[in-house]
Amino acid sequence: APDTLLLPTATLIHASVIPVLAGSGHVFVEATAHRTVYDGCVAARGQGATLQRFRGDRPDQLDAQLGAVPPGSTRLVCLDGVNSMSGNIPDVPRLAAICRNRGATLYLDDTHGFGIVGERRGDELCPYGARGNSVVRHTGETYDDIVLVGGFSKAYSSLLAFLALPTPLKDLLKIAAGPYLYSGPSPTASLATTLAGLQVNERRGDAIRADVYRKTAKVLDHVHGLGMATPNTDGLPIVEIVLSDASDLDAVADFLWDSGIYVTLAAYPLVPRDRVGFRVQITALNSDDDIDRLNTALTALCERFAVLRPGS
Ligand SMILES: Cc1ncc(COP(=O)(O)O)c(C=O)c1O
Repeated sequence: APDTLLLPTATLIHASVIPVLAGSGHVFVEATAHRTVYDGCVAARGQGATLQRFRGDRPDQLDAQLGAVPPGSTRLVCLDGVNSMSGNIPDVPRLAAICRNRGATLYLDDTHGFGIVGERRGDELCPYGARGNSVVRHTGETYDDIVLVGGFSKAYSSLLAFLALPTPLKDLLKIAAGPYLYSGPSPTASLATTLAGLQVNERRGDAIRADVYRKTAKVLDHVHGLGMATPNTDGLPIVEIVLSDASDLDAVADFLWDSGIYVTLAAYPLVPRDRVGFRVQITALNSDDDIDRLNTALTALCERFAVLRPGS
């Protein structure tokens, strides 16, 4: 990346940087973007920007929306890199091309991709690519007109986040992004765990990612074999399962907990009513026995509760 700027969390970055980048111009937020991205966009609106939503899977619609903005005004397009719920990767090259053509900046929150997906190489150990250096490199893109936000709170379990951005923008944010000036930096202990994490990444990150990929594939194969629907199409270790009956959520959570499985619950209004369910995260520390226990629990869950089926 051309340059970087560090703040303690991605949440702070979105809240402070999106309003600066948007100014009194036009912000476009993707419909499934993470809540913290959306909140940053709402803060921008509070400071004079105009806010519109778009669908990441309808780039033509975004193109038309960008084209309808008066010439010369600032345009900022915000979305998740690896999506926090579906676990899927957006079409960054297509979106970046549209943004460049329309004079917009593409702002990507890849806190979920950073540490997992990375540059594609002939010698990569799995389809996640190599080095875990995020979605811009993974999709073969350059940083031209792209601002990338990455975070260490997921793959690295440390309190730190960063922007990858051009140096002039960094210089502006250092004086214009409130928390950078007025809030404390990432604590020393967290910087130490980040550095240790980067060393692990250097030494054996690709092997760890290949292992996560293998275990995720085992779960996804099982989910597909059971005839459960999941939006996961890219094989990343976020597997969202949607329930047919949202009122089952409490019972499903208890059932999984009692089976020794901890998942993230997706209750309304965290997700739309027709997307209520849970999100399984496979991590590097899950053993093969853990994966087998999860798959057994999912089989039993399917027998007791109604889950969404493909195509429904
Ligand atoms: C896509 C996305 N962005 C941002 C955040 C918040 O990151 P941080 O903990 O660095 O504030 C999360 C956390 O769940 C997330 O999923």
